[in-house]
Formats: sequence, structure tokens, C-alpha cells
Amino acid sequence: MTRYGFIGTGSMGSMLIRHFIRTGVTAPQDIAACSKTGVSARALATGTGIAVKDSGRDVAQGADVLFICVRPLDVHGVLAEIRDVLSKDTLIVSIAGCVTLADLASWSVPGARCVKIIPSVTAEEHSGVSLVAWGSWVTPEDKELVFSLFSAIGTPVEIEEKHIEVYSDLTSCAPALFAAMMQEYAAAAVRKEGVPPALAEYLVRHTLIGTAWLLASKETGFDTIISRVATRGGITEEGVKVLRSRLPAVYDELLDATLAKHELVKQTIARQEKDH
Ligand SMILES: NC(=O)c1ccc[n+]([C@@H]2O[C@H](COP(=O)([O-])OP(=O)(O)OC[C@H]3O[C@@H](n4cnc5c(N)ncnc54)[C@H](OP(=O)(O)O)[C@@H]3O)[C@@H](O)[C@H]2O)c1
Repeated sequence: MTRYGFIGTGSMGSMLIRHFIRTGVTAPQDIAACSKTGVSARALATGTGIAVKDSGRDVAQGADVLFICVRPLDVHGVLAEIRDVLSKDTLIVSIAGCVTLADLASWSVPGARCVKIIPSVTAEEHSGVSLVAWGSWVTPEDKELVFSLFSAIGTPVEIEEKHIEVYSDLTSCAPALFAAMMQEYAAAAVRKEGVPPALAEYLVRHTLIGTAWLLASKETGFDTIISRVATRGGITEEGVKVLRSRLPAVYDELLDATLAKHELVKQTIARQEKDH
């Protein structure tokens, strides 16, 4: 039996727990969790039957696999608190953005087996991608276990850690980015013709859902959809031309902004580590 510990039961920690249980890859009785105030952990326990512990140390002590699901700036403090109860036998799985595998290795114990995972809210629907970067001491059995967990709630994709930030933009950030893009599309129709905002958003939303279903088929890629809808010389093609001309600059700027923010958080983490 594998015992799972979760430190942090906010949006992502609780989502992972609920869906690991729902898909049957873990049983509630094998999971213990805690949160800072205990409120979110107790609420989750009521709905799922997991055990709630008073502290990260209590969670870490009993865990074979320890999920760190706190915000990036809280990871150092959490690992400092539990460090002396950690052993090389514990597989540490951090989902915190901007905290590197090197950070995890140096803040835990020598030889610690660490994995960095960036999940996505799309796991709620058992779809989308979880990015996976392996630390130095991870074993083939660890990889198998992590893959079995994250395959149940989407598609795990192994990546090189050095590109994890830009890949995160394409996966974990993307649901919010797609949603904002679609809102802007609907808003343009409202500006142009004064159509009801709720109807414009409804139309775009349901078309997005339908498009995602089309893309879910292995045979249908972006190019297939574009060539089916934007026929040569037709109306949609005019719209595609505008996007092709204007969007590269928008996305370059978007990535500049998000990557700069990643860097800023990393610098704050480094300063925080120095101050301790
Ligand atoms: N949101 C996303 O789409 C997404 C995607 C990929 C990765 N991530 C990463 O996931 C991590 C968590 O994000 P989130 O959105 O779930 O944040 P969140 O909702 O704010 O949850 C943070 C959790 O950490 C707990 N916590 C803070 N300090 C703690 C401590 N010392 N001991 C125990 N628990 C502690 C909080 O406890 P309380 O509940 O008591 O406040 C809360 O449950 C972040 O590092 C983020 O980078 C998020």
C-alpha cells in the first residue's frame, strides 16, 4: 500500500485529491492532508473521507509520496518545517511553479527523490496535460507511479525543466488565457453591433466546446479545422488573415510578460532563501 501525503489543500491540492479518488488511482484511506489553517483540509475530508493532520510534519512522517501543493513562496518554509522528518524513502512531488528541482533537492534531504509537476485545472475533466520533470534520484518505479496517477486525470508529458515555464504557459496557464481570448472575441461583437453580451458569450463558449470536441479526435488538428472552415476566398479566411498578421506580436508580448513574472517570482524565492 502506498501512503500519500498532501501539504496544501487549496484549489490544486484539493482538485488532485478529489480526482485521484474519483478515478480510483488512490483510496481515501491512503491519503492524509493538511493546510495552513486546517479549514480547507477539513472541508475536503468531509467530502472525501481522507485523514486530516495538524501539521506538515505529521503529513510528511507517514507519507511514501508527499505532494507539496502550496504557493511558490511557501515551499521553502514548508520544507524547512518538515526537513528533519523527511527521508530518502519519501518521493517528493511539488506542483509549485517557479520552484526548481534544484531548490527542492537543496531544501529537503540529500539524495531526496523529487518530481516537479505542473498540473492544469483541465484535470477536473480528466483531460489536458500535466507537465512532468524528474529530479536526479527518481527511480523507474517512481516514474511508473507518477505516470499512473496523472494518466488517470489527463495526459502526463515529460519535459526538460529548463523549458517548464514556457510549457506551463501552453498548459496550466492556457485555460485562463483561452477564456480571456474568448471573452475578448465576444466583447468585439458587442462593440461592433451592440448584440447582447450574454448571448455573444454563450455563442462563443459553445462553439469553443464544440471545437475542442473536434480536436479531441486524433485525426483533427488545427490545420484540418482551419481548412474546413476558412475556405479559400471565403469570409472566414479574411478573419484568419487578420489573426495571422496581428497575433504573433500579441503572443510574443504575452510570453514576455509571463516569463518576466516567472523570473521575478524566482528572484523573490532566491532572496527569501538568502534571508533564512
Ligand atoms: N492554480 C493553477 O491552475 C495551478 C496550476 C499548476 C500549478 N499550480 C501551483 O499549485 C500551487 C498551489 O496553488 P493553488 O492555486 O492550489 O493555491 P491556493 O488555492 O492558495 O492553495 C494553497 C494551499 O496551501 C496551504 N498552505 C499554505 N501554507 C501552508 C503551510 N505552511 N502548511 C500547510 N499548508 C499550507 C493553504 O492552506 P489554507 O487552505 O489553510 O489557506 C492552501 O490550502 C502553487 O504553487 C501553484 O504554482 C497552480
